[in-house]
Amino acid sequence: MKRIFALLTALVLACALTACGGTRTQSSPGQSQTQQEGTSSVGEPSAPSQSTPPASSTPKAGESAEETPEGGVLVAYFSATGNTEGIAQHLQSILDADLYEIVPEVPYTDEDLDYSNDSCRANQEQNDPAARPAITGTLEHPEDYDVVFLGYPIWWGQAPKIIHTFLESYDLDGVTIVPFCTSGSSGIGSSAANLQPLAPNANWLSGQRFSGSASQDTVVSWVEGLDLPEHSADTQDTQTQLRLTSAGGEAAIALENNAATRDFLTMLPATLTFGDYAGSEKISYLTRELSTEDAPASYDPQVGDVTPSAPWYPPL
Ligand SMILES: Cc1cc2nc3c(=O)[nH]c(=O)nc-3n(C[C@H](O)[C@H](O)[C@H](O)COP(=O)(O)O)c2cc1C
Repeated sequence: MKRIFALLTALVLACALTACGGTRTQSSPGQSQTQQEGTSSVGEPSAPSQSTPPASSTPKAGESAEETPEGGVLVAYFSATGNTEGIAQHLQSILDADLYEIVPEVPYTDEDLDYSNDSCRANQEQNDPAARPAITGTLEHPEDYDVVFLGYPIWWGQAPKIIHTFLESYDLDGVTIVPFCTSGSSGIGSSAANLQPLAPNANWLSGQRFSGSASQDTVVSWVEGLDLPEHSADTQDTQTQLRLTSAGGEAAIALENNAATRDFLTMLPATLTFGDYAGSEKISYLTRELSTEDAPASYDPQVGDVTPSAPWYPPL
């Protein structure tokens, strides 16, 4: 029995394609209706890249994928005026991380942030060791994260006290915390070191200061030099990415970690020929069956998914 590698399309091919390991029940099974349209090749895992949607319907799967840090990655940040938020968004994009904004229960007004006024709220909080501004909302499933990038603006050389509130709200034992900050001109200084007693059993990495206008490339350079926890093939949360390339561009494929996708990785690099099926998807045939261990009986595909599918006809 053959397995079919299907690439679902709508009007345009989606740029981010997810390979799913379960067998998929075809909604409109058919036979011998595939017209070969183009070839594609899929390569070995490598680093993630910004994906560009393929412009043609004859994708060529390229050669890379990336190892991301073990477990989930969270970018948690507080930003009163948007600068730190920009860096946090770069990190989210670079790391395909979850983003969590630390939102004060009482928002900071311009007057609150007027540091030229000694009695403004921000200054008072920074001068009060016991200040713990309340946070609105909670972080869902903090246990999912092995790495937390923690972002804040520098206030008088230190992290705002709401970062203390955040660190004291969750059990971060064993979590790798990577501080980052923005400022007018000050460096990160002692701000990150002074946070460490609030999560003493976390693995604190060196922090980094950025200007509010730092580019994504600047942030990428920093991330590349970090000593993050290494990828583990046995970790269920591990996500491997492939790069699908075609004459028209590239797309990142984020693989789920299951028997079928792990089996598929052993076939790389590979060249696949895709053809149109019923104007709704692009399909290709693999040279052998993939493992269906623990695969669900059916799967409801979404536009942009890449799925290994059970055969819809008997062997020829
Ligand atoms: C109360 C207060 C204190 C600040 N203290 C410093 C400082 O010590 N050094 C500095 O370079 N910038 C300082 N700044 C400027 C902020 O660090 C800078 O504008 C930062 O990028 C703001 O980030 P945000 O937009 O994410 O809130 C201070 C700002 C405020 C409101």
